[in-house]
Amino acid sequence: MTTTQTEQLTPYADPGRIFAGTAGHYARYRRPHPRLLTEMVADLAHHHTAAPRMTDLGCGPGLVSVELAARGVDMLAIDPSGEMVAAARARAAERQLDVDCRQGTAETIADQKGVRGVCGAVVADAFHWMDRPRVLGQLDQVVAAGGFIAVLCSHAAGAPRPWWHEVIAAVRARYVGRVPAAGAGQTYIVPAGDHQSVLKASAFARTAVVRAEHTVRYTVDDLVGVQFTFAYSSPALLGDRAKAFAADLKAALLAVEPSGVFEAEVTAALILGWRP
Ligand SMILES: C[S@@+](CC[C@H](N)C(=O)[O-])C[C@H]1O[C@@H](n2cnc3c(N)ncnc32)[C@H](O)[C@@H]1O
Repeated sequence: MTTTQTEQLTPYADPGRIFAGTAGHYARYRRPHPRLLTEMVADLAHHHTAAPRMTDLGCGPGLVSVELAARGVDMLAIDPSGEMVAAARARAAERQLDVDCRQGTAETIADQKGVRGVCGAVVADAFHWMDRPRVLGQLDQVVAAGGFIAVLCSHAAGAPRPWWHEVIAAVRARYVGRVPAAGAGQTYIVPAGDHQSVLKASAFARTAVVRAEHTVRYTVDDLVGVQFTFAYSSPALLGDRAKAFAADLKAALLAVEPSGVFEAEVTAALILGWRP
């Protein structure tokens, strides 16, 4: 490496741009994680210590940080996207909660001031964007003895996707192709191995998985809106085709469900890791 090069610690050259343009849509259209699972994380934190402090890596607009803060957990929320950090701050302020929201990457979490001694770390729908072994190595430096890692996934590995998934994929393919993008200008890198295997190979090798089935319900406009929260169909990626995409998608969805109400059972997962 020359002196002008800096080591890239994250899988993506510019992690802060993966979700460019999505924060407003995210805050409005993404459904919260199942309450059962966020409550379990809060309970684990309180079981560990009377005054729990945790970090939320890849916090996005603060969906999980705010729920944990509302349950008495002192939160340090980290995201490389300035837009997401601002949205997380706004969400916390709306609920009159104090969440410490900072711009940064999970791969350098040990460098954050005040993070040492957290009783746990939560990573929700974000672990697949990260260099997972590196993140777990960093967390081994900062998570207190007896502390835990909580990986939340809106869709459990192997669980069926909602029935409308292929309808949306077909429309999306006409606009952005079938190769998933990581926002504008970056291609999605398929992570090697599932999250639990990565935990098992880390310092947090004692694992448990909780799966939670729940019903999700969208109006057709909400289902179109939520597409703008994904890196593979983000506003930045679609650019000036975003309006046409939204109109085509709405028509395709209404063709298969004229009521305009979309409901499905989905399975979320909480993957937990402790040191043996
Ligand atoms: C799908 S969003 C999840 C947001 C939130 N945790 C939730 O559950 O709603 C993924 C987030 O991971 C963030 N991210 C991507 N690469 C990251 C990295 N290397 N370190 C920390 N966060 C990262 C993105 O900026 C984005 O906000």
